Amino acid sequence: MTDAAVTYASYLKIDELLALQEPRSSGPEHDELLFIVVHQVYELWFKELLHELDRVRQWLESDESHRAQHTLKRILSILKVMVAQLDILETMTPLEFLSFRERLEAASGFQSDQFRQIEFVLGVKSQAAIDRFPEGSRARVALERRYREPTLWDAFLRCLSREGYVVPPSHLERDVSAPAEPSPEVQQVLLVVYRDDPKNAELCERLVDLDEGIQEWRYHHVKMVERTIGAKRGTGGSAGAAYLRETVGRPLFPDLWEIRSLL
Ligand code: HEM
Repeated sequence: MTDAAVTYASYLKIDELLALQEPRSSGPEHDELLFIVVHQVYELWFKELLHELDRVRQWLESDESHRAQHTLKRILSILKVMVAQLDILETMTPLEFLSFRERLEAASGFQSDQFRQIEFVLGVKSQAAIDRFPEGSRARVALERRYREPTLWDAFLRCLSREGYVVPPSHLERDVSAPAEPSPEVQQVLLVVYRDDPKNAELCERLVDLDEGIQEWRYHHVKMVERTIGAKRGTGGSAGAAYLRETVGRPLFPDLWEIRSLL
């Protein structure tokens, strides 16, 4: 007996995929399908982004920074699509959202473990984010692993050090679960990179693009939240837009922003 030939539907598991959208509102309300689809698409992009971020870190660990740069370009293209995608959900009016909002109960993007994983790889780590997930769950295991792993920034500094730059040992051997603090010593290294090393300076610029791209997503998301639910509390239990506003504009790679004033 031969296996059935691979088809578009069998390869991509289309039947399974199309069965994954289950509105909770009665009717169901027209806009709930859009809400579910947009969130599911985001989770797929988050998955792909993590896949590529891991790749960039590996390229840096094996001193193949030209390849890291190539993968970063892909990441930036994905991020642009992710930011633009919020426009689609913004076509939903406050009343259209209210038609099914209460059926979300406490569900919120705040609980997206993949979003937290992306933050962890980029250096925004917290034990509290891990503790929200049940012991032994897929989400918690993944977050615990990433909590212990070096961040993208750690990998970049180690790569610079192997290339001969004098990165302080305190940065190379730091506790990788702690937030990366701005460092005048690292900034001195980066100033030399920007002045004399076009290859690594280019890589730094792509990291700034990535930092800016994440901030753009946060900004666009909070604006969407403000126009959809105003100052109401979030379904995830936070103060809503007021909480989200605090997260906008916090750089991932503070040293790369600091040196702009020093160049
Ligand atoms: C009408 C659409 C949306 C509204 C009204 C909304 C509202 C909110 C609110 C109020 C929060 C704060 C946490 C809370 O208390 O719930 C939040 C957080 C969050 N949302 Fe949304 N959201 C929407 C769409 C989306 C979409 C499409 C995504 C994509 C995955 C998303 C991802 C997130 C993430 C990752 C957080 C956590 C942000 C952080 O902690 O820094 N949201 N959202």
